[in-house]
Amino acid sequence: MAKVKSKYVCQNCGYETAGYLGKCPECGSWGSFVEEISGVSSSTKQEAIIPDNNPPQKLSEIKMGTEIRVTTGISEFDRVLGGGIVQGSLVLIAGDPGIGKSTILLQTSGELSSQGKKVLYVSAEESSSQIKLRAERLGVNSDNLYIYPQTNFELIKKHILDMNPDLVIIDSIQAIYTTMIQSSAGSVSQIRECCNELMEVAKSNNISIIVIGHVTKEGNIAGPKVLEHMVDTVIQFEGDKYKTYRILRSMKNRFGNTSEVGIFEMGAKGLAEVINPSELFLKEYNQTQTPGSTIIVTSEGTRPLLVEIQALVGTTPYPAPRRVANGVDLSRVLQILAVLEKRIGLNLSRQDVYVNVIGGIDVSEPAADLGIALAIITCVRDVVFDSHTAIVGEIGLSGEIRAVNHIDKRINEAQKLGFKKIIIPYANDISDEIPNIEIVKVKRIIEAITRAVKG
Ligand SMILES: Nc1ncnc2c1ncn2[C@@H]1O[C@H](COP(=O)(O)OP(=O)(O)OP(=O)(O)O)[C@@H](O)[C@H]1O
Ligand SMILES: [Mg+2]
Ligand SMILES: [Zn+2]
Repeated sequence: MAKVKSKYVCQNCGYETAGYLGKCPECGSWGSFVEEISGVSSSTKQEAIIPDNNPPQKLSEIKMGTEIRVTTGISEFDRVLGGGIVQGSLVLIAGDPGIGKSTILLQTSGELSSQGKKVLYVSAEESSSQIKLRAERLGVNSDNLYIYPQTNFELIKKHILDMNPDLVIIDSIQAIYTTMIQSSAGSVSQIRECCNELMEVAKSNNISIIVIGHVTKEGNIAGPKVLEHMVDTVIQFEGDKYKTYRILRSMKNRFGNTSEVGIFEMGAKGLAEVINPSELFLKEYNQTQTPGSTIIVTSEGTRPLLVEIQALVGTTPYPAPRRVANGVDLSRVLQILAVLEKRIGLNLSRQDVYVNVIGGIDVSEPAADLGIALAIITCVRDVVFDSHTAIVGEIGLSGEIRAVNHIDKRINEAQKLGFKKIIIPYANDISDEIPNIEIVKVKRIIEAITRAVKG
């Protein structure tokens, strides 16, 4: 007879206690504890399920299996996955409501099934006919694609094992439940248990599983960090609700590079790959420029991207000036402002500063520093930056320009898009001879300003 255990679980971070707590000692959120009852104590269950057929082995004696990747046929998605879905892996795709999670996975299912792979699409949120409607719109049609509207995990597992498909989609993890736990679907215990079981199914049967996860209001993957630790790959689906493009970003990947991005455009026929994203981000870039705007070459994963940075500086009506950053890290902006003040005497203590990355993409790498600094400076001085110049460089605390990675790729991308000049760190030791683009190497901020600004 299974032991019935009751516990209180923080719905935010998964912290467990025996009694109710008002405030979570782990994540600090208030009123987040919910009583959950598990039918089986997890320790005894684990021992029962896993057969001990894998004793410890010498590293040198382990035979290397070839890692089999299945390419989805959607190249942007494949790149984010690190070159396709690794067989037997569990992938989590998380994103805001309505961003297009079901769309991209239905398209992927369509591609794979038309390659002859057997795909099971478990829809816990929509009915078969709703999926059919979407499939019609996206032009997905295949005899190898099975749709299964179900929320009960035990039934889902039974059909996965019966069918033995190449790929399973679970749409979504928050909507399925296992009868082993008595709390409702979407609670931390349910999500954790279902995810655990799915991992087991994936690994022991070598079936790839992609799980959809919703994102909470705060932008976290609902139900919660534990999920990220359990799966092999976490992919975040981002985008501007008001714009048509969407960005897939790998946050964690046991089988590939992280921070890789894939860019798509949403249309009536579903998500289409954007082959040349820099063009998309520079589409609205004004060649007759205004002060306060610069172009940087950021490197997302392994791919360089050209994006426009805008800064606006103006006298503040408030006692404390505002610093607002969109698409770049605010603490990074504050650091740049501190360096500008100390090293080149730019006094912004009575000025509001706004920094914005055009296109809604997040630029988190320090190589954007110099571009941000120059955007701020050109705005303050009211001078126009040369519109055919791109900028890369990290700024150190003493105002020095520090080397960045992937410099060759960045220069090539700028050159490909018709830029005539690129400002790079002196410390990046590269040859000056690259056709069609002038390379300006700078050691300090002040040098970058004099070399970059017209008039
Ligand atoms: N006819 C259409 N033409 C163009 N775009 C559409 C059309 N129908 C839906 N869309 C787009 O698809 C999006 C919804 O996609 P999808 O259902 O895949 O999102 P989701 O992330 O699975 O949402 P949920 O969180 O509700 O499951 C809409 O926000 C809209 O942008
Ligand atoms: Mg959906
Ligand atoms: Zn907590």
